[in-house]
Amino acid sequence: MSESIAGRTVLVTGSDGFIGSHVVERLISDGARVRAFCLYNSNGSTGWLDESAPFRRAVQDGQAEIVLGDIRDPEHVAASVEAVDVVLHLAALIAIPFSYVAPRSYVETNVIGTLNVLEAVRRHGTPRMVNTSTSEVYGTPEEVPITEAHPLRGQSPYSATKISADKMCESYALSFETPVTVLRPFNTFGPRQSTRAVIPTVLSQLLAGARELRLGDLSPKRDFTYVADTADGFVRAALADVAPGTVIQLGTGRTESVGHIVDLCRKVTGNDAEVVTETERIRPEGSEVQVLLSDPSRAHELLGWAPSVSLEDGLAQTAEWLRPRVDPETVARYHR
Ligand SMILES: NC(=O)c1ccc[n+]([C@@H]2O[C@H](COP(=O)([O-])OP(=O)(O)OC[C@H]3O[C@@H](n4cnc5c(N)ncnc54)[C@H](O)[C@@H]3O)[C@@H](O)[C@H]2O)c1
Repeated sequence: MSESIAGRTVLVTGSDGFIGSHVVERLISDGARVRAFCLYNSNGSTGWLDESAPFRRAVQDGQAEIVLGDIRDPEHVAASVEAVDVVLHLAALIAIPFSYVAPRSYVETNVIGTLNVLEAVRRHGTPRMVNTSTSEVYGTPEEVPITEAHPLRGQSPYSATKISADKMCESYALSFETPVTVLRPFNTFGPRQSTRAVIPTVLSQLLAGARELRLGDLSPKRDFTYVADTADGFVRAALADVAPGTVIQLGTGRTESVGHIVDLCRKVTGNDAEVVTETERIRPEGSEVQVLLSDPSRAHELLGWAPSVSLEDGLAQTAEWLRPRVDPETVARYHR
C-alpha cells in the first residue's frame, strides 16, 4: 500500500454504526476528508459519532461533514456521492434474528440501498467503491478454511440480501467496469458493538455482576477480528488498485467457539458466572451457521493486511469500554 488516504474525500455510509464510526475515526486520523452519511433522524443524532471527540473536532475544522439521509433514497444518495474520491458503503440492516421477522426491510436497505450507491458511483465516475459483505454469505461452509471462491448460501434473509448486494456489485463490475471492491469481514467485535452480538452480550452480563449468563448455543465457532483491524482493512481496500469486482475476506484465520469466548470473558471480567441456555436465543436449526473460519491469504496478498490485536487484548479493551455503560436492569434482556 504505497499511496495515502490523506487529503482524499471519502463518503462513509453507515458512519453512525459500530464499524462505520471506527472507520470514520481512522480516516480522520489518517488525514482524509470525511463525508459521514448517517441514517436520518429528527434529533440530528450521528449515532456512535455523537460520542467521538475526534469526529466533533474534525467537523469543527471542516475536515468532516455530516450527511443525514437514507440509502433507500436514490436521489439523495446520488447527491451525497458527488465529488468524492472513495465511497465506503457500510450501511445495512445487520441483525440475523430481526431478518426472520422483517425480511422486506432487509431487501429494501441492503439490496436496493446498495444498488443506489452503485448507480451513484457509476454516474459520477467515482474512482473507488468498497462494498461491505459478510462471512454470513457462505452459510454453513462445505469446507474450512473458507476462501473467497466458496459457494454462497442464503441461510437467513440477512445473508440472502448481502449475497444479492455482492452480486449487484459483481454485475456492475462486469457490465460497467465500476471500480467496486467487495470487502467481506468475518465477525468483528469491539467498543460500540450492539449488545445483540455475542461478545457484548456476554461481557455486559458479566460486568453487571450476573451470577447466571443467559445465552443461546455455545457450540458455534467464529473467526473474530477486532474492530480497529477491520477499519484498517477498509482503509487499505480504499487505496488498493485491484480489478473491479474483486472480493477480499477480512478474517484472522483462527476460529473460537462461543463457549471459549465465554471462558475468556470470565477471565477478563473476573466473574465466573454459570451459563443458562435460553431457547429464545437459539436460532432455527437450518439457519444457524456452525463454523466460520477464513483463509486470510488474499487480504494479505492484495492489501498487505493482517490483524494486529489479539482476541484477549480486544476483549479487554471492549470490557473497558463497556464497564461504565452497563445497565444491570436491562442487561439480560434478549435483543434481536
Ligand atoms: N459486525 C460484524 O461482525 C459484521 C461482520 C461482517 C460484516 N458486517 C457488515 O458491516 C457493516 C456495518 O455493520 P455494523 O456491525 O457496524 O452494524 P451497525 O448496525 O452498527 O451499522 C449499520 C449502520 O447502517 C445504518 N443504516 C441502516 N439502514 C440505513 C438506511 N436505510 N440508510 C442509511 N443508513 C442506514 C444504521 O443507522 C447503522 O448505523 C454492515 O454492512 C454489515 O453487514 C458486520
